[in-house]
Amino acid sequence: MHSRIYGFLLIIIAISCNPPEASESLQVQGTIADSAMVVSAHPLATEVGLKILHKGGNAVDAAIAVQFALAVVYPVAGNIGGGGFMIYRDKDGNTDALDFREAAPLAAHRDMYLDKNGDVIENLSTLGHLAAGIPGTVDGMVEAHKKYGSMPWEELVQPAIDLASKGFTLTKNEAEGLNENYTDFLAYNTTADQEWITDQWKEGDSIQWPDLAKTLTLIRDNQREGFYAGETAQLLIAEMHRGKGIITFEDLENYHASWRTPVIGQYKKYKVISMPPPSSGGIALMQLLYMMEDYPLKEWGFHSPKSIHYMAEAKKRVYADRATHLGDPNFHLVPQKELLNKKYLKTRMKSVNDNKSTPSDSISSGLFTPYESEETTHYSIVDAQGNAVSITTTLNGSYGSKVRVAGAGFFLNNEMDDFSIKPGTPNMYGLVGGEANAIAPFKRMLSSMTPTILEKDNELFMVVGTPGGSTIITSVFQAIINVTEHDMSMQGAVNAGRFHDQWRPDLLFIERNAVDKNAIENLN
Ligand code: GLY
Repeated sequence: MHSRIYGFLLIIIAISCNPPEASESLQVQGTIADSAMVVSAHPLATEVGLKILHKGGNAVDAAIAVQFALAVVYPVAGNIGGGGFMIYRDKDGNTDALDFREAAPLAAHRDMYLDKNGDVIENLSTLGHLAAGIPGTVDGMVEAHKKYGSMPWEELVQPAIDLASKGFTLTKNEAEGLNENYTDFLAYNTTADQEWITDQWKEGDSIQWPDLAKTLTLIRDNQREGFYAGETAQLLIAEMHRGKGIITFEDLENYHASWRTPVIGQYKKYKVISMPPPSSGGIALMQLLYMMEDYPLKEWGFHSPKSIHYMAEAKKRVYADRATHLGDPNFHLVPQKELLNKKYLKTRMKSVNDNKSTPSDSISSGLFTPYESEETTHYSIVDAQGNAVSITTTLNGSYGSKVRVAGAGFFLNNEMDDFSIKPGTPNMYGLVGGEANAIAPFKRMLSSMTPTILEKDNELFMVVGTPGGSTIITSVFQAIINVTEHDMSMQGAVNAGRFHDQWRPDLLFIERNAVDKNAIENLN
């Protein structure tokens, strides 16, 4: 077995969603483990995962426990009212992918966020009840457990129930997050019993979520039925009626997570295993790696003007393809083979001019026939046997739609904004899309989430993923390039600042202090 497993969480400061000056690189000290590892966005959730591993649970058992714990202690993105994607690689190298992405309700239709003139109605797809897709997380966890779990389900949900009922201490970030969203919480949560809505939370305050503890208990005792039927479903539908939402009992009953075939590619000595549609992550990541593989990035140097220029040019072309060709494969024929054809990708790079950035208007998607949130979260787990799980999960924006189901205690996502709500109109991350990602009943909205696992010499090498909306793909790409081309340690690769280009808008975003001033001046 590998002597050293690197598991890490990319802690990314959003590059594309915030003005670059709002970004700061975090210099985080990493941990190296020689047998097993749990990495999540919250220490209490990580502790829950570690305890499961100590009890003899495997990586999937630990992941399920972490997912539920994050819904309690990290409600800004951890969730049971959202969705996500899992990449799995077992100790023998077998791989799998689980899609528990939210889906559009049956009553959804392509123009539901437009007014009678065909213009986008501000905030309708991002705030409030109508922004929510049918949640996928609980069914996803049940499916993961059925296929790969080894411990009793009840034991995996119980730690989250304990945290919610006994209470836990708020971190600075979480206290600030609750305070900052106070006005929206007031606007979209209208029942009387909402003591949690205040702008006076402080780091170190103790918080309990008794209503969420009750919902988790129903999930513990009834698995899928504890969420998609019975009391939880009734509370969710009552919430929909209060806020003119459209999710129905039928939607909940019909939602099912899907097992999918991972996107697998070879980048030099590394086998890359990542998420297929309805995430764009795996295809876009492999396109970027294939586009770069013939260029001497190591020789050009880390964040040298030439490296940045070529990587940014590749990103433009990949995001142009994403906007046209990627969507839910159950509704749209995704030309995956063509998009991953090396000859096609290398031809696309032939139009790169050494001395000049290609204007986005002169780049379009490739021709063959056949978008997101900072407040997403990622966790990576490797157990002592060498089974590895890479999960990215989200409510989309911070606290999703800001609607917390009254009496049930969980936030609902605002994932509907990841659809192309009007062709050519940017979503909250500036991403544009078209027909492939138009809204349709039960369709899954396109994602950028890129949970990924790398193998080298048939051994587990890297478990990687990140939050960051549209920047997820380029951040995972750069972390991989930093390790494989620039010989950085995993922690160094995560700490290194990043740059991002997503075709439209025609801008290169650079994290503050990520790139040397001279290099910036020498960019084309
Ligand atoms: N909501 C972020 C994503 O799915 O890409």
